[in-house]
Amino acid sequence: VAPVCPESAAPAGPADAGPELFTWEFATDPYPAYAWLREHSPVHRTTLPSGVEAWLVTRYADARQALADTRLSKNPAHHAGPASAKGKTGIPGERKAELMTHLLNIDPPDHTRLRRLVSKAFTPRRVAEFAPRVQELTDRLIDAFIEEGKADLIHDFAFPLPIYAICDLLGVPPEDQDDFRDWAGMMIRHGGGPRGGVARSVKKMRGYLAELIHRKRENPGDDLISGLIRASDHGEHLTENEAAAMAFILLFAGFETTVNLIGNGTYALLRNPEQRMRLERSLAAGETDLLATGIEELLRHDGPVEMATWRYATEPVTLGGRHIAVGDPVLVVLAAADRDPERFHDADTLDLARSDNQHLGYGHGIHYCLGAPLARLEGQAALATLLRRLPDLRLAAEPADLRWRGGLIMRGLRTLPVEFEPG
Ligand code: HEM
Repeated sequence: VAPVCPESAAPAGPADAGPELFTWEFATDPYPAYAWLREHSPVHRTTLPSGVEAWLVTRYADARQALADTRLSKNPAHHAGPASAKGKTGIPGERKAELMTHLLNIDPPDHTRLRRLVSKAFTPRRVAEFAPRVQELTDRLIDAFIEEGKADLIHDFAFPLPIYAICDLLGVPPEDQDDFRDWAGMMIRHGGGPRGGVARSVKKMRGYLAELIHRKRENPGDDLISGLIRASDHGEHLTENEAAAMAFILLFAGFETTVNLIGNGTYALLRNPEQRMRLERSLAAGETDLLATGIEELLRHDGPVEMATWRYATEPVTLGGRHIAVGDPVLVVLAAADRDPERFHDADTLDLARSDNQHLGYGHGIHYCLGAPLARLEGQAALATLLRRLPDLRLAAEPADLRWRGGLIMRGLRTLPVEFEPG
């Protein structure tokens, strides 16, 4: 999801006492700290590493309520604090403002209009028709490393799959897709920090998207960008900026999230051999039910989105007994809510067959993930194909040596070294 984390603002009150957050230990395993917060300080005032004061919401019921509360805006302009901090997104450069008028930074009525437009083009049917292409991409990526007997599943598989998939869907021609891979790589490596490489990549991507939209207007095809242009031509208006911002958010929201679904999901299966065996047996028998519930469970149990769900209070709000003032940033911690024992039986246990599983991994309410059907398709294809083609897949590192990306927005591994019998 887009980096919508403001970088600095005047502190608006003292932080609450509690476990140390945002350390390397926390990045590796935040769940003990989340358990403490849910129990002792469920709506918790904290100072983020950037210096911003924010509220962390960690219980499932409060999280769901916050995500549906219309007094909590997505628009960073509602952030109280010095003008310099307003709307600070982590994406520097003069192009920022143009790209940032996207779904995840706006409220109704603009949000309603834009979401309706994109929903006309990004339909479940379009995604379903895309299934053979996702399978082809998945196989092609595995073909490239299967003879080696080893791979880094993040670099060689989880990272390229979503970027090629979304490029294909948007209508980026194959010969340009490696540029996207490079730009996206720059963004994910630096995690949205104000670094020159990120600014250059955003600028290049912005320029490329503007040109692509122009080309598709002249020469429409059967792709998502052409679909967006067509949808906007029928009565409702989509400006050039909005079209570019939409393409950008589809790329950005659909990229690192899916990398981490595949990465965290594969890692969880490697660490839970019984669950993995169950899934392998079910796939070998030609069943898909366990794969479908399993992907949802992997999202609940160790989902990609940790705290990328910023909101800003436009009115005073009472949540979990705490008073949130106008302009205060609120971070709904999906990863904590989805381990809440008040909502999920045996919440810390991975159970691929879990059926009562209304997790918040895709959010809730009007900003519910637009790309969920595509993410499910990619996640299912990726895991099923890995298990089928690399039946003796095993971890080639000690779990303690694996590094998680620090930062509060996304949760994912930097590398996932594996070994297997060369195919
Ligand atoms: C929104 C998670 C994949 C596009 C969201 C939100 C979450 C989320 C939690 C809501 C954020 C909030 O309320 O603040 C995920 C996860 C994914 C995933 C866990 C993968 C496993 C995708 C993909 C796409 C996508 C593949 C598109 C290609 C979007 C868009 C929004 C969104 C456009 C904004 C919707 C709106 O504001 O109306 N996603 N996402 N996501 N996601 Fe995803």
